[in-house]
Amino acid sequence: MLTSSGMLGEHPSIKKIQEIIQRVAVTDATVLITGESGTGKELAARAIHNLSLRADRPFVPVNCAAIPENLLESELFGHARGAFTGAHSTRAGMFQLANHGTILLDEVGELPLPLQAKLLRMLQDGAVRSVGSDQPVNVNVRVIASTNKDLAHQVEKGTFREDLFFRLQVIPIHLPPLRARRSDIALLINHFLERSNRKHGLTIAISREAMIYLWEYDWPGNIREMENLVERLIILSQDGVIDLKDLPANIRAFVSDKKSPQPTLSGGHINLRQATEQLQFRLMEEALRLANGNKSAAARMLGLKRTTLVAKLRRKPTVSAAKAIKATELAEPFAEFIAAPDSEKDR
Ligand SMILES: Nc1ncnc2c1ncn2[C@@H]1O[C@H](COP(=O)(O)OP(=O)(O)OP(=O)(O)O)[C@@H](O)[C@H]1O
Ligand SMILES: [Mg+2]
Repeated sequence: MLTSSGMLGEHPSIKKIQEIIQRVAVTDATVLITGESGTGKELAARAIHNLSLRADRPFVPVNCAAIPENLLESELFGHARGAFTGAHSTRAGMFQLANHGTILLDEVGELPLPLQAKLLRMLQDGAVRSVGSDQPVNVNVRVIASTNKDLAHQVEKGTFREDLFFRLQVIPIHLPPLRARRSDIALLINHFLERSNRKHGLTIAISREAMIYLWEYDWPGNIREMENLVERLIILSQDGVIDLKDLPANIRAFVSDKKSPQPTLSGGHINLRQATEQLQFRLMEEALRLANGNKSAAARMLGLKRTTLVAKLRRKPTVSAAKAIKATELAEPFAEFIAAPDSEKDR
């Protein structure tokens, strides 16, 4: 479903975020968006702006990590003529450019401490003072901050002001990594396929097997990685269908390592108990995946009682089965399940 926020996804975690975005957009509350790289932090910030009353005013993204520290203050707050060597004329900063609109302070954790103090003052007084001027100028700017770092940890270390941290995360929004919402993978792949096909005037499809591999993959670069991969696959496709062989070696290797080997009698010997355990685990994993981690639904698929499924999952696999299926490499719902305490409720 493509909502007016432009954020695609049907996983409950994304639904919830779409809802929060709709609700906070109409306020001027400060929002702190966190999430791994490529999870859609900037897209979420733009969505908030576009759904707000400020939509026809500027949206100004500033990457705090990309601007050299000695220029950052004047970039953000502007400077007066003659404020420093090279300041030949008065220049407005990003806050002034964003007046009546929204500023996105991306990688806000990179702001040096003196600028953190200045930002806090801006948030409290609604005014900025440009470098080399003692006249504060009123600005009306909605502030959204984002980071892929753990700001709370930076607060503990003393590199980020605690008062600013609380002031920024009036509304915290955490974007989950793609591997924590695998049920959206097919939908997103199809979206990017359609878009790239349209862009290049092509009609490339994807095979079921390739789609399954992409579903299993862990996507460390999240949605940006997916977007770029799909475009590359479309451009390089030779026979109109993206198949297993077309996927990058790292994805194929990742998924093959994850899959347990099929037990066979080819060597003349097999430990039937271990092989059966492996097969049971694989089927339980698949059921949990299909049920989006919902244990009751997975148990129904397997014709088991939920308690039986829980007990079977808790039973440690034998050494060889454990080697075949490493808990850390399993799809999220299953890995989480193994570590989950008894009382854990269905998700
Ligand atoms: N839910 C989504 N639906 C559709 N496209 C998405 C979604 N989330 C992200 N994208 C797309 O993925 C790409 C990366 O998103 P974005 O730049 O917002 O991520 P980010 O979290 O800011 O990344 P980084 O930390 O690397 O700056 C963009 O092209 C964006 O449009
Ligand atoms: Mg970004």
